[in-house]
Amino acid sequence: MILVTGANGRPGSAVVAEFARHGEPVRALVRDPAKAEGLRELPGVEIVHGDMLWPETLESALAGVDRVLMISSAGPQMLETQCTFIDAASKAGVGHIVKFSGQESTDGFDPERFRSTRSHEQIQRYLIASGTPWTLLRPSQFMHVYFEEVPDIVGSGELRLPLGDTTLAPIDIDDIARIAYAVLTTPGHEGETYAMTGPEALTMAEAARHIADAIGKPVRYVDVSSEDKQRAWLEAGYPPPRAAAFAQLFEERRSLGTSTVDLSTHRRFGIEPTSFAQFARRNADVFRGDAPYTVTPA
Ligand SMILES: NC(=O)c1ccc[n+]([C@@H]2O[C@H](COP(=O)([O-])OP(=O)(O)OC[C@H]3O[C@@H](n4cnc5c(N)ncnc54)[C@H](OP(=O)(O)O)[C@@H]3O)[C@@H](O)[C@H]2O)c1
Repeated sequence: MILVTGANGRPGSAVVAEFARHGEPVRALVRDPAKAEGLRELPGVEIVHGDMLWPETLESALAGVDRVLMISSAGPQMLETQCTFIDAASKAGVGHIVKFSGQESTDGFDPERFRSTRSHEQIQRYLIASGTPWTLLRPSQFMHVYFEEVPDIVGSGELRLPLGDTTLAPIDIDDIARIAYAVLTTPGHEGETYAMTGPEALTMAEAARHIADAIGKPVRYVDVSSEDKQRAWLEAGYPPPRAAAFAQLFEERRSLGTSTVDLSTHRRFGIEPTSFAQFARRNADVFRGDAPYTVTPA
């Protein structure tokens, strides 16, 4: 049996949907079954309830599991959550843990300088030291994070980010889900690290142009100061530590300036990379403000 954790979240639900699309059974771990309505509609999905921070809640979720895709939120508890889960899964005899990690696309980025990227590095070391066979999935920024800019895009026709002319290489979560499905359902991935980005290093002016083309309305990139963006995040209800951490991360991206595209994993699994233009067209309703979207939770 294959278990996907964080199954109510954005990447987790996309991976579970990919299993359903292939008619392949999968077990989906959720913290809050009330939020799992979408998953319940999918064929072949067994929903189990548990909290990765509390091993005693995971017994039935981990029973008979050969392989896990381990995902949890990128918040301050990620390190404790995933290390606790690795211990529980190893103890339960899980044969292979695939860790959903991350990797900045900007050239020269030092993951040890920022809490969230540092946590991934620490968890990876913990997983490798656990002795349980492992694989690392390391996607760049999700294209879905641009949904967080919908209020400005709809309100003023502006994409307001503190990034200057920096390029980023965001990836479509559906591409990651296809790759995760292949890793989880075929042999030979133990000890492998699969880094992946989208197919282009985009300036934010180019991203704005793709969104504008998709929705048929002008969208202009406005290079705002880090302080202004941090203020906007706070006004939008982001908790202050999260707004501050984002501001720091964006300052680093801005100072590094360029990104490198890495499609080696797409090629390895025969997955056609989704461009930002395709992603924007597929989600035109969201960018027009006509469909709901999920933002990164606090
Ligand atoms: N955002 C990006 O651009 C990006 C890029 C690359 C990699 N990543 C990585 O992708 C991962 C997921 O990203 P995200 O935070 O944006 O995803 P998300 O949509 O918030 O999904 C995370 C899921 O994990 C669940 N979860 C958290 N703590 C849990 C616990 N103790 N027990 C059981 N389930 C738990 C959450 O449950 P609830 O639904 O109950 O809250 C949520 O459904 C993170 O590790 C992040 O660093 C993100």
